[in-house]
Parts: sequence; structure tokens; C-alpha cells
Amino acid sequence: MGSWAQAMLLVALLFPAFVESKIHHYKFSYKLAASLVQKLLMMITANAIVNLSCYAEWWKADVEAVVNQYTQTGMPPNVSDAHTINGYPGPVPNCSSKGYTLHVDGGKTYLLRIINAALNDELFFKIAGHNLTVVEVDASYTKPFQTDTIFIGPGQTTNAILATDKATGKYLITISPFMDTTVAVNNITAFAFLRYNGTPAFPPTTLTSIPPINATAVTTKFINSLRSLNSKQYPAKVPLTIDHSLFFTIGVGVNPCATCVNGSRVIAAVNNVTFIMPTTNNVSTFHSNASAIRICAEIRIWVVGTQMARRAKG
Ligand SMILES: *[C@@H]1O[C@H](CO)[C@@H](O)[C@H](O)[C@H]1NC(C)=O
Ligand SMILES: *[C@@H]1O[C@H](CO)[C@@H](O)[C@H](O)[C@H]1NC(C)=O
Ligand SMILES: *[C@@H]1O[C@H](CO)[C@@H](O)[C@H](O)[C@H]1NC(C)=O
Ligand SMILES: *[C@@H]1O[C@H](CO)[C@@H](O)[C@H](O)[C@H]1NC(C)=O
Ligand SMILES: *[C@@H]1O[C@H](CO)[C@@H](O)[C@H](O)[C@H]1NC(C)=O
Ligand SMILES: *[C@@H]1O[C@H](CO)[C@@H](O)[C@H](O)[C@H]1NC(C)=O
Ligand SMILES: *[C@@H]1O[C@H](CO)[C@@H](O)[C@H](O)[C@H]1NC(C)=O
Ligand SMILES: *[C@@H]1O[C@H](CO)[C@@H](O)[C@H](O)[C@H]1NC(C)=O
Ligand SMILES: *[C@@H]1O[C@H](CO)[C@@H](O)[C@H](O)[C@H]1NC(C)=O
Ligand SMILES: *[C@@H]1O[C@H](CO)[C@@H](O)[C@H](O)[C@H]1NC(C)=O
Repeated sequence: MGSWAQAMLLVALLFPAFVESKIHHYKFSYKLAASLVQKLLMMITANAIVNLSCYAEWWKADVEAVVNQYTQTGMPPNVSDAHTINGYPGPVPNCSSKGYTLHVDGGKTYLLRIINAALNDELFFKIAGHNLTVVEVDASYTKPFQTDTIFIGPGQTTNAILATDKATGKYLITISPFMDTTVAVNNITAFAFLRYNGTPAFPPTTLTSIPPINATAVTTKFINSLRSLNSKQYPAKVPLTIDHSLFFTIGVGVNPCATCVNGSRVIAAVNNVTFIMPTTNNVSTFHSNASAIRICAEIRIWVVGTQMARRAKG
């Protein structure tokens, strides 16, 4: 991912509440939300932490070139050639990769730190025969809930507890894409394995069903399960008075671009205004400079706008 795209993602991921608080005048602190998550995590005991850090995409091409091409044209990036789990695609067509194996002890709990490091794909994550307890989802309040399928967007992180309470053996882990527009995605499932220590050699693998690429019901169920704690100790104090009603139109346009392949590029716009790249990129000014806060808000609107425009296009 280009450093600019990375910075944008970081800003949007790290400061959404901050930006929103500036827009809506909410008395809300991201730090507070983060500390709630911390407290929640401390209440949950895990015997070990596992980083499943690279649910990534892999191209038979220079990734920087892929990113440069698509940021220049505004068109979707070339479809990748594989998905990977911690670097391995697993046994997929034309690849002899054995896949990543997560070795675990039975009767324990593991905190899985899951990162969707793909460029553009929303993914489903499953472990055969096991439910997961989701305890933290990036940019969302989270009350722990059980699910057999985790749904995760590009650049997003999710923490989930895995209880290794099933029979000793080998279980399939899958990541597969979700596609809700006409924009093509890599539809190849990546495979990894959960293997209990003490499993004899050459065991059969317990399989799981892979959600279809258009499994909107699965995504809806997952997203509807995201709730705030809203307990006595951690109440959800949502402001109920509206000071300003804001009206946004979000769309896609075509701008001239002398250096682009077709002499034009696709752009996202909010109220017919598109994002214009600032000439300086100094992250520390976000903390000190009021006009930088506006840029921060614009970046977020641009990111959200791009995503929505992409959907609108589909
Ligand atoms: C997981 O990632 C974190 C942050 O990068 C690192 O501090 C930690 O050592 C990693 N844990 C394992 C078990 O690899
Ligand atoms: C993207 O795909 C097109 C069509 O297959 C190809 O011409 C182009 O070279 C690819 N771009 C990169 C950066 O690989
Ligand atoms: C696998 O390789 C063969 C031979 O190179 C090729 O014809 C086929 O399209 C490849 N399949 C995939 C899924 O890439
Ligand atoms: C997972 O949870 C669902 C509902 O909570 C339950 O019906 C199902 O049996 C559980 N599956 C496993 C493997 O524990
Ligand atoms: C995956 O995409 C390819 C190319 O877009 C298509 O030919 C193939 O049928 C798709 N496979 C599945 C399982 O959807
Ligand atoms: C998903 O795609 C399949 C095959 O194209 C189709 O039969 C099914 O109706 C679709 N489901 C949804 C929810 O769109
Ligand atoms: C260039 O224009 C052609 C025809 O209008 C279109 O099909 C194609 O997607 C465009 N390519 C880019 C990179 O904008
Ligand atoms: C959107 O902006 C463009 C360029 O400034 C202008 O030509 C066009 O008329 C505007 N469209 C609307 C609906 O305001
Ligand atoms: C970045 O911002 C800080 C604080 O405003 C300033 O001291 C520093 O000189 C800036 N650095 C650059 C490279 O602009
Ligand atoms: C605040 O940011 C704006 C826009 O980036 C810049 O022009 C201005 O010099 C900055 N002011 C200070 C005091 O850093």
C-alpha cells in the first residue's frame, strides 16, 4: 500500500471518533473507548495470544505498481492471484503450499488477533467445528458475542477468543471473499489448519462450509451483533439533541487527468466536491493545527465517499 494510502487509512482508523467529535460536537473521547476495550480485554483470560496478522492478497505482479495504477485511474485494482493466511495460500489451484498451521493445546483459550491486510477485499474467516467469541472490532463498540464466521474489512482488525475445547485433531481454517457489487474480487479461498497438539500423524481434516461470495445474510448478522456494552458501569450516553441536520450527496465523477491512461480518472465526490491532495503531509500537525483537523475530516469523508461510491457504482 502506498505510504499516502497507508497514512489515510491510519488517520481514518485511529481518529474516526476524534474527527466525528469535531463534526458533530459530540463530547466523546476515543481514548475513553480504547480504555473500555482494554478493561474488557483484561477481564477475559486467555492462555495465549496468537497473531493471525496477514489475511492478505498476493499478486503475480509488483504490488506498488498495482496500487499506483489504481490510485491514478480511480478504477478498482487488478484482481489479486491469491489470498494468504500468515503468508501462505494453502492448497489452491497451481500452488503446492501446505498452508499455515496453528498448533494449539486442548482445553485452553487463545486470543486471536486477526488483521485483514488485503488491499481491497472484505473477507470471511472460519475455523471448522469451533465458534469464536468476538471481543474487539476496530472502530466499533463491541459487546462479546459468539459467531462461527468473522467478517472483516480491508485494513480492519478483530480480536476473538478461541476455546480449544473440541476433540484432538486437525481443523480447516478458511478465508474467503465477500462481494456485494459488480466490481470483481479475487474469489479464491485460502486455507490454513488448526492442529491440536497430540494429534496423530496424517489425521483427517475436519472441514467447514465456506460462505458463498454473495452471503449478505452472514455479513448482516455479524454487523448486527456489534453492540456497545451499555451496562451500568459503561453506559452508552448517546447525545439525543440534534443541533444541525446535514445533507450529503455522495457520487462518482470523471475528471480530466493528462497523465492517466485514458486522459481521465474516476473520482469520488461529496456534494460535488472531491478530495484534493494536500501539499504537506505532517501528521503531528493533526494534533495542534485547527485547519489540519478540517483536512482530517475531509480525508475521512473521502475514504467513506470512495467506499460508498464504489458500492453505488455496483
Ligand atoms: C503479536 O504482535 C505484537 C505486536 O506486533 C507483538 O508485540 C507480539 O510479540 C506478537 N505476539 C506473538 C505471539 O507473536
Ligand atoms: C493490470 O491488468 C491489466 C489487464 O490484465 C494489465 O494490462 C496491467 O499490466 C496490470 N497492471 C499491473 C500493475 O500489473
Ligand atoms: C494453472 O496452470 C495452468 C498451466 O499453466 C493454466 O492453464 C491454468 O489456467 C492455471 N489455473 C489457474 C487457476 O491459475
Ligand atoms: C456455535 O454457536 C451456535 C449458536 O450460538 C450453536 O448453535 C452451535 O452449536 C455452536 N457450534 C459449536 C461448534 O460450538
Ligand atoms: C471466480 O472468478 C473467475 C473469474 O472472474 C470465474 O471464472 C470463476 O467462475 C469464479 N469462481 C467462483 C467459484 O465463483
Ligand atoms: C447468490 O448467488 C447464487 C448463485 O449465483 C444465487 O443463486 C443466489 O440467489 C444468490 N444469493 C443472494 C442472497 O443474492
Ligand atoms: C478507459 O476507457 C475505456 C473505454 O471507455 C474503459 O473501458 C476503461 O475501463 C478505461 N480504463 C481506465 C483505466 O480508466
Ligand atoms: C459539479 O462540479 C462541476 C465542476 O466544478 C461542475 O461543472 C458541475 O456543474 C457541478 N455539478 C453540479 C450538479 O453542481
Ligand atoms: C511538522 O509539524 C511540527 C509541529 O507543527 C513542526 O514543528 C515541524 O517543523 C513540521 N515538520 C515538517 C517537516 O513540516
Ligand atoms: C496549519 O496548517 C495549515 C495547512 O496545512 C498551514 O498552512 C499552516 O501553516 C499551519 N499553521 C501552523 C501554525 O502550523
